[in-house]
Amino acid sequence: METIAVLTSGGDAPGMNAAIRAVVRAGIYNGLKVKGVMQGYAGLIENKFCPMDVSSVADIIHRGGTKLLTSRSEEFRTLTGRKKAAGNLRAQGVDGLVVIGGDGSFAGAVELAKLGVAVIGVPGTIDNDIPFTEATIGFDTAVNTVVEAINKIRDTATSHQRAWVVEAMGRHSGHIALEAGLAGGAESVLIPEVPFDLEKMVAKIKTGRSRGKLHSIILVAEGAGSALDISKDLERVGGLKTRVTILGHIQRGGTPTAFDRVLASRMGAEAVKLLIAGGTNRMLGIVNRKIENFDIEEALSHKKTIDLDTYKLTGILSI
Ligand code: F6P
Repeated sequence: METIAVLTSGGDAPGMNAAIRAVVRAGIYNGLKVKGVMQGYAGLIENKFCPMDVSSVADIIHRGGTKLLTSRSEEFRTLTGRKKAAGNLRAQGVDGLVVIGGDGSFAGAVELAKLGVAVIGVPGTIDNDIPFTEATIGFDTAVNTVVEAINKIRDTATSHQRAWVVEAMGRHSGHIALEAGLAGGAESVLIPEVPFDLEKMVAKIKTGRSRGKLHSIILVAEGAGSALDISKDLERVGGLKTRVTILGHIQRGGTPTAFDRVLASRMGAEAVKLLIAGGTNRMLGIVNRKIENFDIEEALSHKKTIDLDTYKLTGILSI
């Protein structure tokens, strides 16, 4: 192994830069040449490679977004596009590729591996929806962003005695809403993995009100429904005064937490180690604080589950 490449793909996540830095510096430390691919798989098809040295990744560990830019490439979904990408990697003399991204990016990595490219996946997505890892890079930062937003919304919700429906990202999963709901003390947390009962939710809000609670925060994961619809239902069924805040893409930006930086640094360095050892088609995961590696295809065949005990606890503690 002489030359490796690194790219970021799909939705950006805070900590991706720390992972790029780790791949580049661990690669150079191990005597490898490292190339960056701009704009994810789209850049791979368009041959957008750039040489990376130690200083090319200076001053990025604390920055959100991704220095290498990212994309969701339609062309890469075609075999013609993927063959072009694999051909470019060969022409650039790249012996191994590190893909930092979410499940869609991992599915792409599997397809590249079928074309003979050695690939290692580093899980980078705020959604935390990748199996075999307790956390993905960016999730912790996103959860903290949501908690900070809840803290601020609570101030005004209390002042006006309102119920507030806050919508969190997460695509089809409720991990962000669940953890932020527990940490932020939300009265109700709605996630796609567990069906919710509107009448019960209204009853709980009213019980809280009758013992002097001045606000209610209803945190809904985007995959569980639209905050606007839920707010209308609460007004219709419960006669409550509500407001809605859709947090949106602010959850994807911002400086990564220390947890995300450490996770990204450990995983990036481990990806390099795996490539040197001849590994391919593997993804990294953190399990009991240790960085482990798993077959990507197997990971993609599972659906990451929600911790139901944590879900129950949000209900118990927010009476
Ligand atoms: O996967 C990350 C994520 O932010 C999801 O939570 C969200 O559903 C989606 O990406 C939004 O994608 P886009 O940035 O393309 O609108």
